[in-house]
Amino acid sequence: MSSPPVARHKTALTRVALSRPLATAAADGLLAVGESIFDYGCGKGDDIRHLRALGYDIDGWDPTHRPRAERRPAHVVNLGYVINVIESPGERAETLHSAWNLTEGVLVVSARMTWDARDLVGRPMGDGLVTRTGSFQKFYEQSELARWIEEKLGAQPHAAAPGIFYVFRDDAAAQRFLASRVYTYRPRVTIDPQLQYEANQLVLEPLFAFMRHHARAPRPSELPADALQTIHEAIGSLGQARRLIRQVTEDSYWDEVTAHRRAELLNYVALSRFGRRPRFSQLDESLGRDIRTLFGTYAEACVQADRLLLACGDQAMLYVNARSSKVGKQTPSALYVYRSAMAEIPPVLQVYEGCARVLAGTVDQANMIKLSVTQPQVSYLTYPDFDRDPHPTLRSAITVNLRKLTVEWRDYSRSENPPLLHRKEEFLGGDDPRRPLYERLTRSEMRAGLYENPERIGTLNGWQATLAAAGVALRGHRLVRG
Ligand SMILES: C[S@@+](CC[C@H](N)C(=O)[O-])C[C@H]1O[C@@H](n2cnc3c(N)ncnc32)[C@H](O)[C@@H]1O
Repeated sequence: MSSPPVARHKTALTRVALSRPLATAAADGLLAVGESIFDYGCGKGDDIRHLRALGYDIDGWDPTHRPRAERRPAHVVNLGYVINVIESPGERAETLHSAWNLTEGVLVVSARMTWDARDLVGRPMGDGLVTRTGSFQKFYEQSELARWIEEKLGAQPHAAAPGIFYVFRDDAAAQRFLASRVYTYRPRVTIDPQLQYEANQLVLEPLFAFMRHHARAPRPSELPADALQTIHEAIGSLGQARRLIRQVTEDSYWDEVTAHRRAELLNYVALSRFGRRPRFSQLDESLGRDIRTLFGTYAEACVQADRLLLACGDQAMLYVNARSSKVGKQTPSALYVYRSAMAEIPPVLQVYEGCARVLAGTVDQANMIKLSVTQPQVSYLTYPDFDRDPHPTLRSAITVNLRKLTVEWRDYSRSENPPLLHRKEEFLGGDDPRRPLYERLTRSEMRAGLYENPERIGTLNGWQATLAAAGVALRGHRLVRG
């Protein structure tokens, strides 16, 4: 057999931290100590080393760096940046299949994106490039990668992040993952002091947490066995424990919790339209019970969810909903919302953003979301110094276009005049503790006349010139004489 025309072995990096696909899977709760992981095409084996150090049961194989290792089935299989280094489309598909055949729970597939190729010099070869080091790279568009995985495996890939997809063996596990991705918000609770409650607060905590999350009472099997046992011993029955919680809290609090849980479920059911919407029997049991309790039937939830989905395609509806949003900064063309406040925007807009996430996955660094109301477009913006800097500048933006089905990245890190933010409080949720500090600064900046020419202050240079002209400067979140 002749040697391959490209130097695949040169593609493996030395990693000082966990690779992005495995870090993403860990953040999504897909890696568990005690459940096996297999790194297929593991390169030099750094991910194996990092995860073993954390106590995970992980092994891996690589044709160049670990050729003698046994290829064995595992709950999670990682195929990390492997398919993009294989120049033959046939072998690429075979490799995907081999990794899938070892997968018992979830396959994590990642590949480099077209934007990684921007500054790369290379010689075209097949559907990719041969780089200066002699290695092959095929760069993918997000939707191209999704289509390819689905076509080759006949199973639905779920976007975890740009360039990273999960393929689940089990429908219920896939649905659990999708349901865990909706934004959640729960109002603050006020407890009416009561002796029996206070004496048993710790015992009641798991039940309280369940009721807060699901907006319903649990079946006994839905609580951890030891928690149930302690409730029985300390209070009597689950029913009595639940009544005790209801006695010390307002009905209006539970009405709000119910409204938020309903919105979350509708969001999830709406987005499950992409791909194949699961049958009721394919849903995780607990999720199915939430839907039945809050909507009566799954069919009713689907009807309401489809209405939301339809509304997302209607620009006028998006506009009206953006205008009615109690949180977020409104501009003529968009609503800007800090990530932690996403659960507080109108449900239609949450589904709109969810559609973008179906395509792109979660952009983990992004802390601001821009929902355009003039184009079917959602952007994920990264302001690394949002908390520390009174006027943070934009580092990068990932924009998802829902009509063109594209995901694009724009880098502002080298820009000399990047866009910057004012009035940071407007992006935050209603009860965000950062609001008072930011509001105070806005008031003093307004008094100093700094916002009089809005067209000048949207980027760093104009803003600095405005501060200098007014003879003021910023010290932390305070305006001082310059
Ligand atoms: C860019 S490296 C990625 C290594 C590792 N997964 C990581 O994320 O650091 C690509 C790896 O794919 C391996 N590879 C190439 N062809 C392969 C194949 N057909 N099956 C499995 N791995 C392969 C190469 O040996 C190389 O180590």
